[in-house]
Amino acid sequence: MQAHGNTILLTGGTSGIGLELLRQFYIEGNKLIVASSNPDRLNKLHTEFPKVSTVVCDLANPKSLRKLLEHCLNTYPEINILINNAGIQYNYQWIEEDDGFHRISREIRVNLTSPMHLIYGMLPQLSTKEQAAIVNVTSALAFHPKRSAPVYCASKAALHNLSKTLRYQLEGTSVKVFEIIPPLVDTPMTKGRGKNKLSPKEVVDEFMIGFRKNRYEISVGKAKWLRRIGRIYPRLADRILKNA
Ligand SMILES: NC(=O)c1ccc[n+]([C@@H]2O[C@H](COP(=O)([O-])OP(=O)(O)OC[C@H]3O[C@@H](n4cnc5c(N)ncnc54)[C@H](OP(=O)(O)O)[C@@H]3O)[C@@H](O)[C@H]2O)c1
Repeated sequence: MQAHGNTILLTGGTSGIGLELLRQFYIEGNKLIVASSNPDRLNKLHTEFPKVSTVVCDLANPKSLRKLLEHCLNTYPEINILINNAGIQYNYQWIEEDDGFHRISREIRVNLTSPMHLIYGMLPQLSTKEQAAIVNVTSALAFHPKRSAPVYCASKAALHNLSKTLRYQLEGTSVKVFEIIPPLVDTPMTKGRGKNKLSPKEVVDEFMIGFRKNRYEISVGKAKWLRRIGRIYPRLADRILKNA
């Protein structure tokens, strides 16, 4: 894939990995439309990157998601890349949780239903482009889950499988399906936990190399090693991440 001259819809570009994706694609000369739920953070983003378009959208809210989709299809028919980056992670024990029904559905909506709906809604447009891509951000936890984040890990495993099946379905079309598989990264999502975290820049630097070379599954840093260990010693990889 060419990393310049594209029009990109990026979810969750206001911090962490998404902000770095924005920065690098912006420098490469792409047009970006960023969707996230916090208007103040989007305004700040607009000040730093004046050419970036922003849309307020709560991906956990089906009406808001529909509006985003309609807005993008009507206003930006040139979009040829969709990056599903936005995500949330709740760490909790189900047996101790009182607000589980709400938390489960919110996490699934942001991490899984919204990428599915955006892909499904954008596909007719993407498939008319000479080169097009869907980029899904999953996690090493898609392969070996951790105890404290059951819904997050399940949603990332599902997004991994979705990426694979869509790749099968879109064989022979112009639409390529990429997956970024990061390890623990130093972002607001992981604030106050974990050690030896990668920076968002390290993640995106590696992704950009894979993106240009059409490597569709891009495991980054330790995620690469964990997947290798997991193929040979799956129980060991499970043990490493169980209490991560
Ligand atoms: N950090 C890690 O260790 C790690 C590892 C593997 C994979 N990942 C994945 O990488 C992706 C980015 O995560 P990050 O670590 O960069 O986290 P982050 O800094 O917390 O960024 C999350 C982004 O998602 C957006 N977002 C959250 N809820 C939203 C909602 N309801 N509607 C719209 N946007 C929403 C946030 O924007 P607003 O707050 O403005 O809405 C923000 O821009 C996620 O998919 C995450 O699962 C992260």
